[in-house]
Amino acid sequence: MDFQGQHIVSIEQFDLQAVEAVLQLAAQMTPYVNRQKGSRVLDGASLASLFFEPSTRTRVSFASAFHLLGGKVMETTGMGTSSLTKGESLFDTAQVISGYADAIAMRHPQAFSVSEFAKGATVPVLNGGDGANEHPTQALLDTFTIFDELQRLGKAQSPIRIALVGDLKNGRTVHSLSRVLSIFPKIEFTFVAPNALTMPEKIVAQCDDAHHRINFTQDLIQGIQNQDIVYMTRVQEERFETQEEADLYRGKYRLTQSIYDKYCAPNTIIMHPLPRDSRLEANELSDDLNKNPNLAIFRQSQNGVKVRMALFALVLGVDKQLAQHEVAINWRSRQ
Ligand code: CP
Repeated sequence: MDFQGQHIVSIEQFDLQAVEAVLQLAAQMTPYVNRQKGSRVLDGASLASLFFEPSTRTRVSFASAFHLLGGKVMETTGMGTSSLTKGESLFDTAQVISGYADAIAMRHPQAFSVSEFAKGATVPVLNGGDGANEHPTQALLDTFTIFDELQRLGKAQSPIRIALVGDLKNGRTVHSLSRVLSIFPKIEFTFVAPNALTMPEKIVAQCDDAHHRINFTQDLIQGIQNQDIVYMTRVQEERFETQEEADLYRGKYRLTQSIYDKYCAPNTIIMHPLPRDSRLEANELSDDLNKNPNLAIFRQSQNGVKVRMALFALVLGVDKQLAQHEVAINWRSRQ
């Protein structure tokens, strides 16, 4: 895959070689993320960060990634502050913003809206989540995290066993992650969800077509046993018709330290795309796991910066120029 000038709107664009190229480059970003050295490779470049739906990690890590490469970021958040509320089309907005920026990171509540927007853009558009459809950069950072964590534990077994737990119908991160993992050899998927929130048939078929083993269960205890990774998710209450309907499922699956100790295999890696819903009625990933060394959630969110740096470097064609544009770091913000 030739990345330069490409939009990153769907994980479907990636074959195994392309995913591995992103993951290898992301690993090279570690010294920049750790502030051991700086980069000016995107000096003079501007990112337009267009988030029309709430976000903490994706929005800030896209911005952090662009800054760490030496570029500048222009922020627009909320539909209410943009001219889309005056009836402007996604195409027109994309044409206009392309005149102001060198790359665009975008989140929007409607499925396929980011690919629609990208048709009007003349600079690379990176999908930060389009409704319940996809979250391709999250899938890449999740994949990076899975291999990084397995390496940390010295695990090289095959197949890789992963339980995806919760709202698999509406969770865009689990859609994109299942799709990207399906291009790797030998994955064993266990989909743990209530019947009404099960993984969409199209994604199951894709995993099946790639000859992976697939298990289904509605039972958390059954689903989390004998896994390498347990990937918890939040009930996507914003995608339900009513809060009452979402509340039927919030709190249905809760992973706590005592459940982990009793049922999970030793060194099961715990992931979650975040945000976790820490309100009492939900609490799908208990705070009492915070001291568990296999709780990877904050390493996972930090890996988002590395992966997004790699993607910017690739789509803007500077991936081979990093060494030439290194600068020393003179401050210290971390212990
Ligand atoms: N994982 C993720 O997409 O988080 P945000 O919604 O905070 O961006």
